[in-house]
Amino acid sequence: MPFTSSKLTYKAYAYKNGNYPIELIDETIDLVKDPQGTYVAPPGKILLKINYAALNPVDYKLYHIKPSILRFYNCKQGFGRDFSGEVVSIGKNTSTSVNVGDFVQGIYTPILDKGSCAQYLLVDPKHCPVTTKPTNISLAQAAAWPLVLGTAMQLGKGLDYKDSKVLVLGAGTSVGRYVVQLAKLGGAREVVTTNSARNKDLISELGATEQIDYRQHPNFLNPVLENVKNSGKFNFIIDCFGGTHLFPEINHILVKNGAYHTIVGDSPGHGLDAMLGGVKTISRMAFSKYGLLNYNYELRFLDNNSGWINAARELIQEGKVKIFIDKIYPFDELKQAIERLESGKAEGKVVVEVARSE
Ligand SMILES: NC(=O)c1ccc[n+]([C@@H]2O[C@H](COP(=O)([O-])OP(=O)(O)OC[C@H]3O[C@@H](n4cnc5c(N)ncnc54)[C@H](OP(=O)(O)O)[C@@H]3O)[C@@H](O)[C@H]2O)c1
Repeated sequence: MPFTSSKLTYKAYAYKNGNYPIELIDETIDLVKDPQGTYVAPPGKILLKINYAALNPVDYKLYHIKPSILRFYNCKQGFGRDFSGEVVSIGKNTSTSVNVGDFVQGIYTPILDKGSCAQYLLVDPKHCPVTTKPTNISLAQAAAWPLVLGTAMQLGKGLDYKDSKVLVLGAGTSVGRYVVQLAKLGGAREVVTTNSARNKDLISELGATEQIDYRQHPNFLNPVLENVKNSGKFNFIIDCFGGTHLFPEINHILVKNGAYHTIVGDSPGHGLDAMLGGVKTISRMAFSKYGLLNYNYELRFLDNNSGWINAARELIQEGKVKIFIDKIYPFDELKQAIERLESGKAEGKVVVEVARSE
């Protein structure tokens, strides 16, 4: 799509910090003139017209913790990481496999910057995973998987699920649903999960062999120990929700040299609790690194390098993993979408429709 002006103006959601509302504002992207005299994306960048954005807990966590001082760093903090949309321009010297006109999905990774709840987004494919949309899913579904499936893959990186016994904490979360599916695909012998009873059938369809209802057992240590008594210790614990319930008995739960991978650490909340939890999490990681634990403990994060996204795309294209959408909200109902996400009741991704594709 050739542009006739050096500035592309569009609507985007942004805020200064948690003391200010998230508002729809006018944003601009600076384009560069090409030899034909029209304007295109700057070198190394892909310009996208966004169709859907999906929300993640990191979006509201950042909104709540971004301290006032940071407003001087960026007065227009964007909202949203996951996106789907159309490639409308590609700058010179951009290393990418996508082409103008392709429908794509991906993750906008710069955290203190713009966001995907916007009509346009300029992405650097060196740091933002982006790939063409699988042909068997809608554009709304396309926005719903990148961050959570990518995180689930990162959690399982280096683990051989074949014939293993796996405990997935928070299997009902968007990430957890993929961890269960990947463990099953990898050939796990047993997949025990914590999740509420409302998704019992779904989680067992995805691959859980036994479930512990965390609402019935807020401290699920005893049911886990009971399970160990019946069928032995776990090779891997994958924590998608955060918490410390198992640590008092961890050596009776995990095999020696087993792995405990978490994406949250000790505290799922924010504020002082999260800070104290963070200190304990980092200390445990240090103990693990220096061989002072019987198991490997790691806090893992989504990998910004885009290598994994094509493997993830293949899993979707081949129908090997399912995508879950809780609800799609219109662009002007971002507030309601955030409330739904923050309620902790969403069953899958909360998606925002920026523009329906023609
Ligand atoms: N480190 C990273 O790179 C990274 C990346 C992605 C996400 N995260 C973090 O991972 C966490 C999960 O993210 P998400 O997007 O997958 O979450 P989500 O989809 O928003 O999770 C919602 C689900 O959480 C489950 N849940 C609520 N309370 C629970 C409890 N006490 N124990 C277990 N499950 C509970 C509920 O499932 P049921 O009631 O149906 O069981 C609910 O449907 C968040 O804290 C997020 O910030 C970290």
